[in-house]
Amino acid sequence: METDEQFKNKVEQYVGRIVEKSLEMVKTETFGDFHGSLKAGKMGNKFTDVKQFADSLVNSCVKDGLQEIHKLSKSKPILCIGICTLDFVIICDEYPIEDSKTLAIGNYWARGGNASNTSTVLAHLGAQVEYFGTMVDNQWLTFLQTDFKETGVCIENCIILNHEKHKAPIAPLIISKKKGTRTAIPDFNGIVGVTYEQFSSLDIGKYSWIHLESRSFEGRTDDIENIVTRIVRYNTVNNAGRKVLVSVELEQPNSTNPEFRFLFGKADIVLIGKDYAIDDGYANKEETVRGLYKLCKAGTILVCAWGEDGAAALVDDKLEVSPAFPPEKVVDTLGAGDTFNAGFIYAFSRGKSVAKALEFGCIVAGHKCGCHGFSCVKGLQRKVYL
Ligand code: FRU
Repeated sequence: METDEQFKNKVEQYVGRIVEKSLEMVKTETFGDFHGSLKAGKMGNKFTDVKQFADSLVNSCVKDGLQEIHKLSKSKPILCIGICTLDFVIICDEYPIEDSKTLAIGNYWARGGNASNTSTVLAHLGAQVEYFGTMVDNQWLTFLQTDFKETGVCIENCIILNHEKHKAPIAPLIISKKKGTRTAIPDFNGIVGVTYEQFSSLDIGKYSWIHLESRSFEGRTDDIENIVTRIVRYNTVNNAGRKVLVSVELEQPNSTNPEFRFLFGKADIVLIGKDYAIDDGYANKEETVRGLYKLCKAGTILVCAWGEDGAAALVDDKLEVSPAFPPEKVVDTLGAGDTFNAGFIYAFSRGKSVAKALEFGCIVAGHKCGCHGFSCVKGLQRKVYL
C-alpha cells in the first residue's frame, strides 16, 4: 500500500533528523574539546574522545531509529474523501476586465479539488495518505491517476464512473500575478461523489484519520451522515484500539448548504472556511469559532482559517490563535485553504497540540502561497519542527 515516494519521504525525514542531531552534538563541549585538540595537533591523545563521541552518536541514532521504526510500523494512512477536479489554470498579469481580450502569461492543467489537494499536501509532508472519491473514465482519467501516483497518494479504492453517464468536474481558474488571487469558475454540474455503500466496503480500522469534504455530498446528506455515524460506531465498538479521528471541512457558504449544519455535532474536528463564516454573519476567525461552538459536542476541535489573518481554534473554552505566515510575494493562493487543512491534520495526527497544529497549518499555507502548485511544501515538516 505504501508507495516508493512515501517510503522515500520517510527515509529522508529520518535521515534529516539524524543529521540535525549530529549537528547539535557537534556543538557540544565534548566535540568542542576534540576540535580544539585537533587544531593543537594533539589528536593521538584524544582518540578516546573521538571514540566516545562516535559511540554516543551511533547509540543515539540507533535509539532514534528504533523509535522511528516502531512509529512507522504503527502509522496508519489518512483517508481524504471528496472531489477530484481537473483544474485549468490561466495566469494573467491582473484579473481581466469583462468583455475585454486579455493576453494570458501562462497556463497549465492540474489535478484539483479540495480533498484531492489536501491529500497532495499530506503526501508532500511525508504522511501516508489515500484519496477516496469518484473519477470519470474520460480522456483525462490517466492524467489524474498518474498525478496521484507520482505524488504518492494511494487511489486503490477510487470509484471510476462511465463517461457516457457522468460528467467530470472541471474548474477553469484565473490567477492574477499582481495580487496572487485565484478566481474559480467550477462546473460541478452532475457531479457524483462516493456513496455510503461504496464507503462501507472500506476497512475503517486501516486508517488513523478520515477527512471528509462536505461539498462532494451536496444533496446527499444521508450519505455523509451515515459515513460519520459508521466511523463513530466503529470507535465505540473498538474502544480498545486507537480511535479513528473524523474531520469535516465546511467551505461553501452555509446558505447554499444549510443541510450540513448537523456535522458540527458529529465530527471530532470541524474545519470552517472563511466564505462559510462570512456568509454566516461572522467578521473574524475568533467570532466564528466562538459563535459556532454552540453547535459542537464537548471536546470538538473547531477550526477557522482566515487567509491573511491566520487561524483560530476553539476546544471547549480554550481559544488558540495563530498569525498568518505570508511569503515575501504572494504568487498563487489556489488551494491555500486545502493546504492549511493538510498542515493542521498532519501536525495534529503526529501528536502535536492544537496550538502547534494551527501554527503549522498557517506556516504550510503561507509557504504554498509563495509558489505555484504544491511542490514547494515538500519537506517543510523537517524545516519547521515535526
Ligand atoms: C481549490 C480548489 C480547486 C478546485 C476548486 C473547487 O481549493 O479545490 O483545486 O478547482 O477549489 O472548488
